[in-house]
Amino acid sequence: MYQDMRERLEALNKIGVALSGETNLSRLLELIVKETRHFTNADAGSLYLVDEDSNCLNFEVAQNDTLRKRADLKPETFKPYSIPVTRNSIAGYVAITGEALNIPDVYNISAGADFEFNRDFDIRNRYRTKSMLNVAMKDTEGTIIGVLQLINSTDSNGEVVPFDLNIESLVSSLASQAAVAIKNAQLLKEIKALFEALIQYSVSAIDARSPFTAGHSKMVAGYTMALAKAINDTHEGPYANVSFTPDQLEELNYAAWLHDIGKIGVREGVLDKMSRLSDAEMGSLINRFENIKASAIIEAEKKELALSQGKEGSSTEIEELHRELENRLSQVDEELAFIKRINADISLPESGHRRLEEIHRKRYVDLEGQKRPYLTDLEFENLSVRKGNLTEGEIEEIRSHVNHTENIVNKIPFTRHLKRVPVFVIGHHEMLDGSGYPRHVKEEDIPLQSRIIAVADIFEALTAGDRPYKKSIDPINSLAILQEEAKNGRLDKELVRIFIEKRVYEAGEKTI
Ligand SMILES: [Fe+2]
Ligand SMILES: [Fe+2]
Repeated sequence: MYQDMRERLEALNKIGVALSGETNLSRLLELIVKETRHFTNADAGSLYLVDEDSNCLNFEVAQNDTLRKRADLKPETFKPYSIPVTRNSIAGYVAITGEALNIPDVYNISAGADFEFNRDFDIRNRYRTKSMLNVAMKDTEGTIIGVLQLINSTDSNGEVVPFDLNIESLVSSLASQAAVAIKNAQLLKEIKALFEALIQYSVSAIDARSPFTAGHSKMVAGYTMALAKAINDTHEGPYANVSFTPDQLEELNYAAWLHDIGKIGVREGVLDKMSRLSDAEMGSLINRFENIKASAIIEAEKKELALSQGKEGSSTEIEELHRELENRLSQVDEELAFIKRINADISLPESGHRRLEEIHRKRYVDLEGQKRPYLTDLEFENLSVRKGNLTEGEIEEIRSHVNHTENIVNKIPFTRHLKRVPVFVIGHHEMLDGSGYPRHVKEEDIPLQSRIIAVADIFEALTAGDRPYKKSIDPINSLAILQEEAKNGRLDKELVRIFIEKRVYEAGEKTI
């Protein structure tokens, strides 16, 4: 007897340690049922948690050895459900009173009891519930947070027997330890959900500053997680032995969500630059060209006045003057039309560049008699971009988002299992051949997680809707571009292969 009790206390102690080490709520609930069943030799067990808002007991976990062994076990056998917290069900009675109920045979409950056994489950599944031990799970303040239900204790011959009365108080104390662990896990889950929502809302708001990047990070996180899970399912090739744990997946998910948070430091006008010159800049340029024409007219009028006052018979010269003026005015109009045309173009050919240089060299005399250029240096710089519509400086500004991201994520006090988030995000624009940025590091210095985000990021950017400087590319062509980038040694070949072969590209909308 003494030996038996000692063994039980030791087992209890071990279970307590195991419970306090599990912080994932659903794994913890499974563990509680598993360990207490083991402890009491119970064939089955269930766990209910109290939902204070709805005053219900939510059925969270069910384990049943007999049913599990059946070949025709239906998935709906253990589907979740809720029951109201009332005294007429066994679990409800325990949840209200906090009393432990040790029932030798639930088909034989005394007529005077408040509660009765619902046989629906048994009938549906051809099971016979007999002995049952129900204990309330009380937290440190004595609040009942759930009910643990152990079913059909078995003896050494496999016969169902009543639960040992001596074990009742041990199970109750175990249930209370479990309650504390559950409360901690719930709290952790809530904090995690809060942190995750905060990150997702902030990042989505930053993405939405530009219509062209709205939803980008969410999509990248979706592709990233799908690719990581596809790697876990791959048992060949260089990543055959890579298997991301749930914690590592969580870490990668945060990195994917946060990879572009630094875009907060890039001006909106640069992020969603629609044309080479903004509307305001184009407005002032149009104004100036009107002034150029006005000053040409005034100059011609002055010359005409001088001619008509100077000598007789200058009509041919005056006619010549008019023709010149006409030519000049139409040339200014053509130049302005040319500028308007190239303003919205996404590429500028050599001939266009030369013409722009000619215009840039031109001067006119303004109404105050000052010599001024047709185009300012800044206008010329913006208009003369060969590809896209961003100047070198603006490209640099966009690229600086990685540095801003680095500064931001380095200030987030990540918990231990998320410690490497900053490392992964910083590498998302690095390329295997060293042609990426900001550090231009090569293959061996780019973590696998950063490479995964890079593939997801490029695919999302390629397939995203039309942008001013880039038309949307359909998925087939985008995948071909990824393959090309892999062939050229910029992207990880194996990741691109998995991305395509496992159809990861179809998972864009999904996130974990
Ligand atoms: Fe980025
Ligand atoms: Fe990105």
